[in-house]
Order: sequence, then structure tokens, then C-alpha cells
Amino acid sequence: MPTARFLGHSCVTVDNGKHNIIIDPFLSGNDKAAAKPTDIKVQYVLLTHGHGDHVGDAVQIAKANDATIVANFELANYCARQGCTVHPMHIGGSHAFAFGRVKLTIAHHGGGAGEHADIYTGPPVGFLIEMDGKTMYHPGDTGLFLDMKLIGEMNKIDLAWLPIGDNFTMGIDDAVKAVEFLKPAQVVPFHYDTFDVIAADPTKFASKVKGSKVTVLKPGESIDF
Ligand code: NI
Ligand code: MN
Repeated sequence: MPTARFLGHSCVTVDNGKHNIIIDPFLSGNDKAAAKPTDIKVQYVLLTHGHGDHVGDAVQIAKANDATIVANFELANYCARQGCTVHPMHIGGSHAFAFGRVKLTIAHHGGGAGEHADIYTGPPVGFLIEMDGKTMYHPGDTGLFLDMKLIGEMNKIDLAWLPIGDNFTMGIDDAVKAVEFLKPAQVVPFHYDTFDVIAADPTKFASKVKGSKVTVLKPGESIDF
């Protein structure tokens, strides 16, 4: 059974005792993060888009662990230019890695890297990650989109993470609608409270969701799926 650990903002690790991956490792720049980059031991680093609060410490972590960065083609090349081993993919494509299958989904958001987000790193993506027969959906940063209905129809999602912080992504009410579309067994809200502008009350989200189990995690806490 895979265990997902929330490290703050949109950073999640997944571990099944044999394989371990990290998604969007924004740690040293986040004073609410539950780990330091040097604490992270992983085989793969998955990145949803080029923004600093998602790429975070990816290059340092990938190099220190000899880990492979999985990202869209443009963002993968951006990381390769910094000396990282990469596996480029793109939206709609899936690939079977040692830990399981990853499929890239659309996300509605921006995608530039660097201090001014003006380095082109392709469109943002979400990840469907299959490990030990279980499916986790990490949508990255996105607004609500109707194709989530299709994602929910075509995948039996055991665990979905959804942004609720508003301003840059979905807010609570759109995230509640996303749960209706995706029909995950379990859902965890994220991408809120890191900055004042994305302050949100996760218990409000939890009280509005119907049909899926909501778990609110503090940075450092884990959930099995
Ligand atoms: Ni972003
Ligand atoms: Mn973000």
C-alpha cells in the first residue's frame, strides 16, 4: 500500500517501501515546509510546472539522489540544462517507470520558470500516478476544468490532492465541484495558507464535500491509499 506524505504547499512524497518519489519539492523557500532538501531520499522528482513554488529545490534534490526528473518536455530540458537526468513527457502521454505508471494531464495555469517566470517551460500539467494498483491524482496548479469529469470516468482514483487556496488556482467551491467530477475515494486539500493571498479554511472545504473522504493534513503528516 503506498503512503503519501504532505510536506507543505503542493509537495508530496509517495513511498511503497521499495520506491519513492517526490512531487513539486518547494522546501527551502517555504518556512512551513516539513522537510529540508537534504532530508529527501528519492529515486524520482516529478514537476508539474516551472513556477518557483513547484520546481523549488528539484535540481539540488535530483543531483544529490541521482534521481530522474519527470516533467513536460520543455521543463525537463530546463532541468537538463542545469545538469539533471530527466525523463521528458507530455500531456496525454503515459510511461511505466520502475515505481509505476505516470500519465500527464492538462492543467489550466501558467508555466514560466525563473525569478520572473519568463523562462519558457511549457504548459503546466497534472499527474496520474499508479503505484501498487492504486491511483493518485496530483493536479498541480489549476483552475477547475470539465475534463476532470473524463479523468474521473477513466480512472478509479484512490487519492486526489486539490488546490483550495484560490487566487492562483481553484478556490474551495471549485475544488468541491472538482471532487464531484473526479469521484476520488479520498481527497486532501493543498496549495493554501503558504502565503497570505492563498489563505483558506480546509475545514470549510471538508464540510462541503460529499461522497469522498476528506483528510486535512498538516505538513509532515501522511495518508495511505
Ligand atoms: Ni503555479
Ligand atoms: Mn503554485
